[in-house]
Amino acid sequence: MNAPLIDPFARKIDYLRVSVTDRCDFRCTYCMAEHMTFLPKKELLTLEELDRLCSTFVRMGVRKLRITGGEPLVRKGIMTFFEGMSRHLGGPLDELTLTTNGSQLERFAQPLRDAGVRRINVSLDTLDPEKFRAITRWGSLDKVRRGIAAAQDAGLRIKINTVALKGFNEGELFDLLAWCAVEDMDLTFIEVMPMGDMGEVQRLDQYWPLKDLRARLAERFTLTELAHRTGGPARYVRIEETGQQIGFITPLTHNFCESCNRVRVTCTGELYMCLGQEDMADLRAPLRASEADAPLEDAIRRAIARKPKGHDFDYSRQAVEGQVTRHMSHTGG
Ligand code: GTP
Ligand code: 5AD
Ligand code: SF4
Repeated sequence: MNAPLIDPFARKIDYLRVSVTDRCDFRCTYCMAEHMTFLPKKELLTLEELDRLCSTFVRMGVRKLRITGGEPLVRKGIMTFFEGMSRHLGGPLDELTLTTNGSQLERFAQPLRDAGVRRINVSLDTLDPEKFRAITRWGSLDKVRRGIAAAQDAGLRIKINTVALKGFNEGELFDLLAWCAVEDMDLTFIEVMPMGDMGEVQRLDQYWPLKDLRARLAERFTLTELAHRTGGPARYVRIEETGQQIGFITPLTHNFCESCNRVRVTCTGELYMCLGQEDMADLRAPLRASEADAPLEDAIRRAIARKPKGHDFDYSRQAVEGQVTRHMSHTGG
């Protein structure tokens, strides 16, 4: 038996997020620059290598596997990978899931369900088609809504992820809530994090603290704090009047790092021990150096042994601190 992955702060690592591509068919302003240079194909791990890497993590105690990007569903042949991973479900793996922009769901919802996916997270920041176009630069709200409908038809449970953006979706709080109630979808709000190029859009100007958003909800509804957790960083409340469960991901106003259980791998096999730090370990070299998994396992253990305590994101002094230069699409959120 493999010993579980435990980091220096006694946190058990059982959640792996894997970015399978750095590409995306959208260009969300807080995530990417409009003109991105993507990685050449030969840099990417092949689907077989991704399978071997993820299976190694599963053997080492990972119980929750979330596929991200970029947009994971634009990676060619990605269903082969999902189908492969489904063999771990019902065994060591509790959950196989993904975070998607929804643009390709019409095509992929049913195959995902068939591969054992039960719950997906869809990123959506506005219900206004023009604003949707503005924030994603390239996306079509209509297409995403058709994708969401297809996912529901396929029996997938949906959680909407909304980045709280001051002056952008502040006025839509109750519309988003009502829409999710009607569609029977969960909803989580995320504070915007200082990742990537900050030149074009000033993240501090976009920052809408979730304690403000929550206070606004509390003016209209009764909120009950829930103990329920999904293994992710969100904290949940129930809205008594509607029965809805609303999540808050608050890297800025309340740091959840003390209970961090996750690491992320990029599409080139870099292992990032924290979303908000630069340190990483190359797993592609040991993966390619040997057909045996021992060197890979060894590299993973050595990396976990230096997982940092947390990120240093901070806007509290009216300036952005702890910023990370890589784009969110590099590590997949
Ligand atoms: P659930 O399984 O539904 O709980 O999902 P999740 O919240 O773990 O995954 P999702 O991809 O929906 O994550 C939402 C966002 O939370 C991510 O895109 C990140 O922006 C943020 N997030 C997730 N993990 C971390 C983390 O370790 N640190 C920070 N700062 N943010 C994180
Ligand atoms: N801050 C917070 N969330 C972000 N996302 C992308 N960039 C940022 C950022 N700078 C979110 C997306 C998606 C998830 C993968 O990450 O909206 O829900
Ligand atoms: Fe693409 Fe998601 Fe980044 Fe938007 S947030 S550009 S949909 S990866």
